Amino acid sequence: MSTSIVSSSGLLSIENWAKKQVMEFFDRVSKYESGRRGASYALGTPKVGLLAFFEPSTRTRISFERAGMDFGLQWVHWDSMQSSLRKGESLRDSFHVLDRYPWGVVVVRHPDAGFAHLVSSWLRCPVLNAGDGQREHPTQALGDAYLLWKLGKRKKWKITFVGDLYRSRVARSVLRLGGILGYELSVLRDGNRETELFAKSFGVSLIAKSSLKKQDVVYGLRSQRERGSLFQVPSVEPEDLGEQTRVMHPGPVVWGEEFSKRIQTECDEKLLLLEQIEAGYEVRRAVFADLLKKKEGRRA
Ligand code: CP
Repeated sequence: MSTSIVSSSGLLSIENWAKKQVMEFFDRVSKYESGRRGASYALGTPKVGLLAFFEPSTRTRISFERAGMDFGLQWVHWDSMQSSLRKGESLRDSFHVLDRYPWGVVVVRHPDAGFAHLVSSWLRCPVLNAGDGQREHPTQALGDAYLLWKLGKRKKWKITFVGDLYRSRVARSVLRLGGILGYELSVLRDGNRETELFAKSFGVSLIAKSSLKKQDVVYGLRSQRERGSLFQVPSVEPEDLGEQTRVMHPGPVVWGEEFSKRIQTECDEKLLLLEQIEAGYEVRRAVFADLLKKKEGRRA
């Protein structure tokens, strides 16, 4: 029997996962999704989770929060801007203080790469990575891959990324998971050296705009201004897409940048953006289900 991608440490990274583990996880997500209104997965005694977000978020934070509530989790929001960090306390000291309270789980987002791993070394409870700098966003990638799995379980998805890949943790996680799942991955050639180096480092091909028509999915990535991006995103227009091409984006979308405003107004049937939101929620529910079911090797 293979092990779950959710360990007693939580879910920090897409590391050393096997396709079989991911497929088994998707089977469980699907089972939980279809049994949504049943009580079969009501779990144990209520627990309290901590949401520690050091960057803005709408989708990920609310999705984790809402998904956890389905399992009786109550939440404490750590408002870092109103905390003793402002008085000069170090993050390490703050998390050591927080570790003295009992948590079922801690969900973290932070602008520094590796932050979730660092927090995991400071805490005794499971930690879920909701985005660490440019490095990873594992549950975003799982949600997107789960959606594609539902749309075509055996399909070898042809996906092209468009936009500011270099600064995108979503790109890194989706590419990594896409590699595990056997997707045919590529990057739109945009004349930007960073994009070329990024594609090379992941061993994926660069394609011309004229080839977007052949792709199953064009996956857009926002220009990451909060990470100093001055990136001129090559806007994709409706006529660049094939009949079968679907449009994905982790959000938030700035229409008129990586995707033209016409994609929003003229291509409604191609957009998978809201389906991505639902899939992300389902995946996070399953992460909690897996996590809360585990024998607690670490204090919760
Ligand atoms: N996709 C994503 O991480 O969105 P938020 O920043 O709104 O969480």
